[in-house]
Amino acid sequence: MAEILRAPKGLDGVAVADTTIAKSDTDGTLIYRGYAIKDLFEKSTFEESTYLILYGRLPTKGELEEFEAKLRRYSMVPHNVYDIVRAIPNEAHQMDVLRTAVSGLGATEGGISSEEQELSIIAQMPALVANCYRLNQGMEPAEPDASLSLCANYLYMLTGKKPSSFEAWTFERMLILYLEHDLNASAFTVRVVASTLADIYSACTAGLAALKGPLHGGANEAAMQMLLKIGSAGNARSYVQETLAKREKIMGFGHRIYKTVDPRSQLAKKLLKELLEKQGKGLESYKLCEAVENAVWEFKRLPSNVDFYAAPIFMTLGIPIETFTPIFASSRTVGWVAHYNEQLMDNRIYRPDAIYIGNKGLNYVPLDER
Ligand SMILES: CC(C)(COP(=O)(O)OP(=O)(O)OC[C@H]1O[C@@H](n2cnc3c(N)ncnc32)[C@H](O)[C@@H]1OP(=O)(O)O)[C@@H](O)C(=O)NCCC(=O)NCCS
Repeated sequence: MAEILRAPKGLDGVAVADTTIAKSDTDGTLIYRGYAIKDLFEKSTFEESTYLILYGRLPTKGELEEFEAKLRRYSMVPHNVYDIVRAIPNEAHQMDVLRTAVSGLGATEGGISSEEQELSIIAQMPALVANCYRLNQGMEPAEPDASLSLCANYLYMLTGKKPSSFEAWTFERMLILYLEHDLNASAFTVRVVASTLADIYSACTAGLAALKGPLHGGANEAAMQMLLKIGSAGNARSYVQETLAKREKIMGFGHRIYKTVDPRSQLAKKLLKELLEKQGKGLESYKLCEAVENAVWEFKRLPSNVDFYAAPIFMTLGIPIETFTPIFASSRTVGWVAHYNEQLMDNRIYRPDAIYIGNKGLNYVPLDER
């Protein structure tokens, strides 16, 4: 029998695949298909970065227009998916609802090619996220406004209010930051499902399940709850000190790869300040975040991650907290689709081993003798 290699806990430092999609690095950099996240954040659109991640290169003007038209064409959610959502109790977590809806979509959409399936999931995610929440609140699904861009429309469906161009631009920046992040827990989950040759709906449903957890995508919602609890900058230091003393986690901090800086967090931090200044509502929430950030660095030397600053940005945009993690998921679906396809290009089923440390040789005792 071949010798078994024991991987470190959490597969820390273990490469299990080759990828050309994205790379996060310990030096605090992130690239999508070779392009620095800062450049895409400052100059790109959601649709253009989505194209880049899916097809590996920036589109020409004509290709981008055609791609945008395709996304619009596939954006209508089949109504029987909403019937499934209506049957879910109102108390359900929005990630549970979204996961069920995407699974329902897989059982509903038939007779389309795998490329159409992939574009349809990506294109329907904004309406699914907004309308799962609306149905849960007893409202009817929102009708998209054809005069708005994809991201402006998404924000409009989430808040019920037509966003200013700066608000829509801000929201789009966050969606770009969330698009992809190499082999994180949900992308790995998607690749494991892909490796069995299951369909894209199954893989994305599994990705959603992995992303729900507070150690992964659930952190933006948890960070917001924490910021609301801390309340103001003056309380930050003692909150952080006490929480760490109890050996509890500070949500929105720490990362497997980034040990000094998460580039997405720093871009989002600047964006939060700009948004607050534009809105003229004062910098209280920015100061609170910065005080928490300074205290976590002082006591634990952990950097904030993207979820920490995403939370107050979404809050300032008037987005319901329950949809923060679903929004992350809607954008990350793009990365999942790219990983799904990359896995299939050079596939071997994922089937690791485990070192058995349980009992052996026990004698079976019939039920009435136990
Ligand atoms: C992201 C996360 C899961 C990475 O886990 P990981 O790679 O296993 O973490 P590390 O090995 O770097 O942790 C190093 C140390 O920092 C601690 N730590 C990590 N994140 C922490 C946090 N957010 N709050 C408090 N302590 C934390 C660990 O407990 C460990 O402490 P120890 O050395 O005293 O045992 C982890 O940082 C975390 O739980 N963060 C909070 C959730 C979150 O924001 N997730 C979103 C990620 S984008």
